Amino acid sequence: MADSKYVNPFATAPRGGLAGVFNGIAAWVYDRAPSMDAAYRKHLSEYWAPKNFNTWYFFGSLAILVLVNQIVTGIWLTMNYKPSAAEAFASVEYIMRDVEWGWLIRYLHSTGASAFFVVVYLHMFRALLYGSYQKPRELVWVLGMMIYLVLMAEAFLGYVLPYGQMSYWGAQVITSLFGAIPWVGEALVELIRGDYLISDATLNRFFALHVVALPLVLLLLVALHLAALHEVGSNNPEGVDIKKVKDADGKPLDGIAFHPYYTVKDVFGAGFFLLLFAFVIFFAPMFGGLFLEYDNFIPANPLVTPEHIKPVWYFTPYYAMLRAIPDKLAGVIVMGAAVMILFLIPWLDRSPVRSIRYRGPLSKALLGLFVVTFVFLGYAGYQPSSQLLTLLAQIATAFYFLFFLAMPWWTRIDRVKPVPDRVTAHA
Ligand code: HEM
Repeated sequence: MADSKYVNPFATAPRGGLAGVFNGIAAWVYDRAPSMDAAYRKHLSEYWAPKNFNTWYFFGSLAILVLVNQIVTGIWLTMNYKPSAAEAFASVEYIMRDVEWGWLIRYLHSTGASAFFVVVYLHMFRALLYGSYQKPRELVWVLGMMIYLVLMAEAFLGYVLPYGQMSYWGAQVITSLFGAIPWVGEALVELIRGDYLISDATLNRFFALHVVALPLVLLLLVALHLAALHEVGSNNPEGVDIKKVKDADGKPLDGIAFHPYYTVKDVFGAGFFLLLFAFVIFFAPMFGGLFLEYDNFIPANPLVTPEHIKPVWYFTPYYAMLRAIPDKLAGVIVMGAAVMILFLIPWLDRSPVRSIRYRGPLSKALLGLFVVTFVFLGYAGYQPSSQLLTLLAQIATAFYFLFFLAMPWWTRIDRVKPVPDRVTAHA
């Protein structure tokens, strides 16, 4: 190489044995693409992560794990799935009964979808606990929210593919929501469906979006999410800025190298997660109708409406809000606003401290109440509608919005404790 300052650090590394082979390969790559080594250092071996990460910090790497699981099992499902209204249902049954290990691949994917939402909801809740979205991590949060939106679209489209009763009628209900939009609504519904109702054309385009377009968008967004995080560095359970106190070399005193310390820790978390995941896959893959609904084992029939149309559990909190509002257009707006308001959290939270550990009783009580409300809405959206449930869902919806709209006020008036300069408490 022409640059006189250029030194290949692997050139003098020992040769011989397996390590020597790797050193040789590393030296060869370094000669051709030195920035790969720089990227490895920046994002792994010299990425200083706070030393006090706790269990909540497993969910980011677990989200990557479930994303990879969805992509790999999805590719294998695609090998035998037929995206046509006439053959889709039977091709899924074929995968379940006749394809070698097909049942396992299908359950890994269908249960994997629910696992994805469990992991992502816990990952998002961690950000609420520790104020991880506060300055300078607003962009990390906004990109995370974009991932959440695309993930919801991806899950919805995937659920239509087996073309069972719930696939069909779920898609019918959700696509018809766009019809509530004044003037353009009906035309938009037709455009989305490619037909007057859910049909072969709809299934084809949903398949294309589910297996190609949205996974690409998801991967891109995850890369941006991590790039944005690595610009500013991770938050931690104390909410302390570890970059404030550094040693002479510029390394934060409360930071440790992501690799090997957290790669090893994350592998342990992944092992624990996979044990639980395997238990569900082998013993309760449908999870009592929560992960795969019983009605979806009946082929789609445009002439017979299922008794109780409901989405999968991860959508039910929003579905409960939709049903709680008597007017269709108002319901659609409330449901959309319930998701979109989450984008604004970094600007609604005016607390001078990040972590819940240094916030006062008001923040703790309201966050607890918010969790209860969200879980209740999830329950309400899953049950057949009744007068009492509708009333309770209306109250819960009002609290949901009040929690966010009044956030600038209650985060400012709440008592806070002084935040130490360095990480002091231990997990
Ligand atoms: C495919 C989905 C996602 C993947 C693969 C992913 C991945 C990650 C990873 C690996 C980290 C660093 C490790 C950690 O802090 O746990 C992280 C941090 C973070 N993520 Fe995500 N994420 C996803 C979705 C989301 C969503 C939906 C949100 C919020 C709306 C979000 C918000 C955040 C925030 C605020 C941080 C910084 C946390 C901190 O430093 O305390 N992420 N994400």
